[in-house]
Amino acid sequence: MCGIVGVLGKHEVSPLLVEALKRLEYRGYDSAGIATVNDGHLDRRRAVGKLINLSDHLVRSPLPGKSGIGHTRWATHGAPSVTNAHPHRAGPVAVVHNGIIENYAALRDELRAQNLGPESDTDTETVALLTQSFLQAGDSPQQAVAKTLAKLEGAFALAFLFDGHDDLMIAARRGSPLAISLGDGEAYVGSDAIALAPMTDHLTYLEEGDLAVLTRHSMQIFDETGAPVTRAIESITPEAGRVEKGGHRHWMAKEIAEQPAVLDTALAHYIHDGAIRLPEGDVDFSDVTRIVMVACGTAFYACLTAKYWIERLAGVPVEVDVASEFRYREPPITDGTLAIFVSQSGETADTLAALRYCEGRARIVSVVNVETSSIARASDVALPILAGREIGVASTKAFTCQLAVLGVLALKAAQDRGTLSAAEIRSHLEDLTRVPALIAQALNLEDDLSDIARDLSEARDILFIGRGPMYPLALEGALKLKEISYIHAEGYASGELKHGPIALVDDSVPVIVFAPSDDLFGKTVSNMQEVMARGGRVVLVSDAQGLKAQPGSWHSAQMPHAPDLWGPLLYAIPAQLLAYHTAVAKGTDVDQPRNLAKSVTVE
Ligand code: F6R
Repeated sequence: MCGIVGVLGKHEVSPLLVEALKRLEYRGYDSAGIATVNDGHLDRRRAVGKLINLSDHLVRSPLPGKSGIGHTRWATHGAPSVTNAHPHRAGPVAVVHNGIIENYAALRDELRAQNLGPESDTDTETVALLTQSFLQAGDSPQQAVAKTLAKLEGAFALAFLFDGHDDLMIAARRGSPLAISLGDGEAYVGSDAIALAPMTDHLTYLEEGDLAVLTRHSMQIFDETGAPVTRAIESITPEAGRVEKGGHRHWMAKEIAEQPAVLDTALAHYIHDGAIRLPEGDVDFSDVTRIVMVACGTAFYACLTAKYWIERLAGVPVEVDVASEFRYREPPITDGTLAIFVSQSGETADTLAALRYCEGRARIVSVVNVETSSIARASDVALPILAGREIGVASTKAFTCQLAVLGVLALKAAQDRGTLSAAEIRSHLEDLTRVPALIAQALNLEDDLSDIARDLSEARDILFIGRGPMYPLALEGALKLKEISYIHAEGYASGELKHGPIALVDDSVPVIVFAPSDDLFGKTVSNMQEVMARGGRVVLVSDAQGLKAQPGSWHSAQMPHAPDLWGPLLYAIPAQLLAYHTAVAKGTDVDQPRNLAKSVTVE
């Protein structure tokens, strides 16, 4: 959610911190700040809004020092303001935090009783105040932090800096990801490899409950019992360092355009010589009696799509849950359950908590984009979607790559259970490998879709409908549109329209219909006719055959013919392009839409 960075450097660190925060800005962009220690003197600068405001502030009021921490914020407790921006400082200590301190109200009362009143509305300031109180009682920085951590409930990744200590940084992790690294006379802390990539080529992910004490020449890690531990050092891939839009106006545009290439890569990883292979470890469906799939947002819609595939192809019951509901519902996990968690970032707090609930009760498979993420590392088998870094807040290429991997898993389930013949599986796999080329064709519709989007941008409400596996896509289309264009949009199963939502339809509410000419086409277009009969303006997205059979819509987009099963991958393209161009027509901030952040590491 928020992004953290820390550097004990050889040179001035302000520019390094700002550069790293730029790379972390996808995690939050309500406010930003840095603190440094310069010849023993701790100081900080903070600014509301995008990082550029902090950079401008630093030009007017530079912050010298070779040791520093930085933060880019996605507000949880307390509105975006300078006072609520990190780093939070209490006397000799400054801290940056990603996560939520759940017992902060009780801690604040305790601190007030000691006359240590908070200035801000944040939960984080209590961490600084507690540490200050232990320092004042005579504890060393390490002891003070350890005692502070013992009092905290909730999720956190923290980095601390101390007045009077030019060569000390302390980091801690519980629930939110954090990595550390020791370089040549330098030390680093960061929320992820992306932050640290330009500074170092290796890092160590802290484990749950770890506390790390860093100097320029040493790195000591202690587990939650206080015992010294060693953690693996991992390489940072060159990919993590690459952050270029490649001539595109927005990250989202770049990521939409990349889909044929990244899908090719993902499919080549899982399909070899026309057969399924799972290089990261087998997922055996033979004795599975039930599959539970858990995710949030777009990843949840990928799971809903997979439910159609798995149930149809392999005959195993699939339950799909939103992680934030699953984790508190205490659902029974019966013998023979396979639990699948889908997450682009691999750090979504609710999805991770849902996974922890299933630990020891079910075999755990995850489908992730970040292979070093917490969800990947906590899984029995982690299947990478190989989409490459996704920076635009609205997920695009990760969605289609999730669908591709889940499609392969559905066929694997059918193979293990003998519900499809080898020839049928081979034929579906062949169809799947044709999808990237079909997506490249669908991308050629961009100009047409951009014209339609200009009209859509005038609307206040938009409905999306689809049937069968196109229903989750209708939900995804609506989510994509609302998150970046701020137009109210809802997705419905087309058969549900007449059970209520059709009351919304008039000539001011466009209805987008995803309807490839498949077995369900006739049913979907009946629902479309019901809309048109009430003056509704329909945008029909179908193939040549479908459009020929159903002329008369307000707008239409002619898609390539989708192979049986894999329509959702292909129709994701018009859903994404309509949302993108509507947002561009409205002039909204496509890559950093208001109130959102890329990686949701808080509940
Ligand atoms: C929407 C979007 C979100 C994410 C959701 C889960 O465009 O990106 O709905 O899909 O926050 O994130 P991950 O997949 O990282 O768990």
